[in-house]
Amino acid sequence: MLNSTTYKFYVNGEWKESQTGQTIEIKSPYLHETIGKVQAITKEEVDNAISSAQEAQKQWADIPLQQRASYLYKWAEELVNMQYEIAEIIMKEVGKSFKDAKNEVIRTADFIRYTVEEALHMHGQSMKGDSFPGGSKSKIAIIERVPLGVVLAIPPFNYPVNLAAAKLAPALISGNAVIFKPATQGAISGIKMIEAFHKAGFPKGLINVVTGRGSVIGDYLVEHKGIDMISFTGGTNTGTHLAKKAGMIPLVLELGGKDPAIVREDADLENAVQQIVSGAFSYSGQRCTAIKRILVNENVADEMIGLLKAEIEKLTVGSPAEDNTIVPLIDDSSADFVQSLIDDAIEKGATVVTGNKREQNLIYPTLLDQVTEDMRIAWEEPFGPALPVIRVSSDEEAIHIANASEFGLQASIFTKDINKAFSIANKLETGSVQINGKTERGPDHFPFIGIKGSGMGAQGIHKSIESMTREKVTVLNLTD
Ligand code: G3H
Repeated sequence: MLNSTTYKFYVNGEWKESQTGQTIEIKSPYLHETIGKVQAITKEEVDNAISSAQEAQKQWADIPLQQRASYLYKWAEELVNMQYEIAEIIMKEVGKSFKDAKNEVIRTADFIRYTVEEALHMHGQSMKGDSFPGGSKSKIAIIERVPLGVVLAIPPFNYPVNLAAAKLAPALISGNAVIFKPATQGAISGIKMIEAFHKAGFPKGLINVVTGRGSVIGDYLVEHKGIDMISFTGGTNTGTHLAKKAGMIPLVLELGGKDPAIVREDADLENAVQQIVSGAFSYSGQRCTAIKRILVNENVADEMIGLLKAEIEKLTVGSPAEDNTIVPLIDDSSADFVQSLIDDAIEKGATVVTGNKREQNLIYPTLLDQVTEDMRIAWEEPFGPALPVIRVSSDEEAIHIANASEFGLQASIFTKDINKAFSIANKLETGSVQINGKTERGPDHFPFIGIKGSGMGAQGIHKSIESMTREKVTVLNLTD
């Protein structure tokens, strides 16, 4: 049995235990033991957290931007100081390899610093009235961006630190306060990140961490009148539910994906295979942007599958503590789901090129060939290491199958013909298209957009700052 700490929640700059005395156990996906407990807080405790945020936000929005910037820089510094401690918690809690967990912390510090610099260089606008017919020069509009108030930030388990900060940093630098509801599996990592925040000495109440059962505080938070904006990353079903509950407040949703890799006959197959294997299998495919289907031209399919098999069989499998690429999935039910997609495809005639081996929640990297449109894995998102190959006879067929998905996050096109790449990219219904590269969110200042079932609104540093502010127009009427 590991040393199991009970973590407190964070409100108005203080660490507290819930008045219920109830906690939620967090089990490690690979140690299969409880690694800590978090507070199961009540609705009343949520009310207090939101009141603290509202109070803190008023003064925070008033202080000079340079001062807000210096606190955020300090937070980035404290994260770097705590990188090993936080990485170890991420590894134990969500089963990410230690190397990737440490990279996540460093990426987060970089993200915070870039967010500050972006905000420091964003400016308002002014307009004169006389450019409109009949308008007067004496009317001048000053257009500035102002904070929204209290932002509810809900990140997913797979980037418990980075995707939390991707919401917290833009919110704070632009003058908002935050209610941070971590994913339950990921809550300890989120709390550790807030320990770094606490060390940075921010004014009290700017970030309040609420942990608890979704069934008790989930909808309550989303429907709360004190929340002015929601930024959520997670599954499409939860995102859709949240959008229905939230009512008329600004929302940014980053949801699931079924990113295709379209491989044309003229592709550099070696490069395509390297990119696809890394894109599909890092962190066992538990990424919204993982490549989740290959649409390959039938004339190069056999050659490509041979290369893929060799590359996939080189992937290391096992404990995240040994920096393996393929690690146990977040829980047993996630592994059951991936296995059900594999089994369904095999029953309907898909062939196993490699993989289809399972030890509890560890699924070996699996490549399925001869996948057809009647199989669930052609459409559903495994969020695990199972990759289907659909053979196509033309670009048109690839585009048709790519667009028939309910999702629209990203797509990759592999080809040496740049004109064809652009013409296919123009027809794809996704937020981004990668030419000759894997699908991925970063670099983090690029706009990151999901359409259809993959979300609404945009992230990426500049876009996130915009989404957490609104334009405010003040009109000056000169009298002479
Ligand atoms: O899981 C969703 C993340 O936004 C993916 O980010 O492409 O950097 O792994 P990533």
